[in-house]
Amino acid sequence: MRDTEPTKVWIDGAIVDADAARISVLDHGLLYGDGIFEGMRVYSGQVFRLPDHLRRFETGARAIGLELPGDTDFVAQVVLETACAFGQSEAYIRLIATRGRGALGVDPTTCHDPQLICIVTSIALYPEEKLSRGIDLVTASLRRPSADAVDPAIKSLNYLNSVLAKREARLRGADEALILNRAGMVAEASVANVFAVRDGTLATPQVSDGALPGITRASVIEIAGDLGLPVSERTLGRFDLLAADEVFLTGSGARIVPVATLDGQPIGPSGAGCGPITARIMDAFTHFTEHRGTPLSA
Ligand SMILES: Cc1ncc(COP(=O)(O)O)c(C=O)c1O
Repeated sequence: MRDTEPTKVWIDGAIVDADAARISVLDHGLLYGDGIFEGMRVYSGQVFRLPDHLRRFETGARAIGLELPGDTDFVAQVVLETACAFGQSEAYIRLIATRGRGALGVDPTTCHDPQLICIVTSIALYPEEKLSRGIDLVTASLRRPSADAVDPAIKSLNYLNSVLAKREARLRGADEALILNRAGMVAEASVANVFAVRDGTLATPQVSDGALPGITRASVIEIAGDLGLPVSERTLGRFDLLAADEVFLTGSGARIVPVATLDGQPIGPSGAGCGPITARIMDAFTHFTEHRGTPLSA
């Protein structure tokens, strides 16, 4: 996001430009990453799968004992109003809830004023040529924490694990990191789920392997069903990606992104470019987004 890009922010009950949005330096979201977030998209003037995002948001809040400052209808209204104020038919939405202002020290019981923030802007995670050629993925040296640490199913504000994996990928000249779990099996990418296609069948790691239950992932599983492509949610190793005909990533920010290489090794017979099944899924996804949204004008 460049500073010059228009951005609208709902904070403290008002919608303001990004420069005018203020948060306390004593907010535990800033101090300790104590909070949760969602990333969503507006496609063709509709918030894609808003109820699913809100359900995941509320589940995350419940899991960390954070009382949201409003019920589902209120949060939905905040999202829709902010997206309306942004005024474009394509947008990216970042919904955040922090524990709020409290005493220094991790104790969340000192925080009495949880904050809800909604940022609406535009993003393009990868340039067009990357999307047509495919991105370069490298296996990160750090692992996804397992569910007995902080469950990766919680979209918490503490994304240092993803940040460091992404940083390592960039330092190594790649676009994105493949993150393995403690058992050395594939969890996901830094902020996206992973799919492998082999002999016309899709496979993606199970949530219990350390994957976020991604909403784009769920959409792709549904789309594959509609297209008659079998999908298995199962444990995958690096082998499954290296032996695949096609690999792609999914996420609200990234959407559907073909992978050209893993650790320098080309994926699939052609090595670069978007594979035929990935292309079919991308096409179908575009259509899908037009029918699964909550209109901004509702
Ligand atoms: C760690 C992680 N994995 C996967 C995803 C993709 O999930 P979704 O498709 O719901 O955006 C995200 C999205 O932000 C993420 O943060």
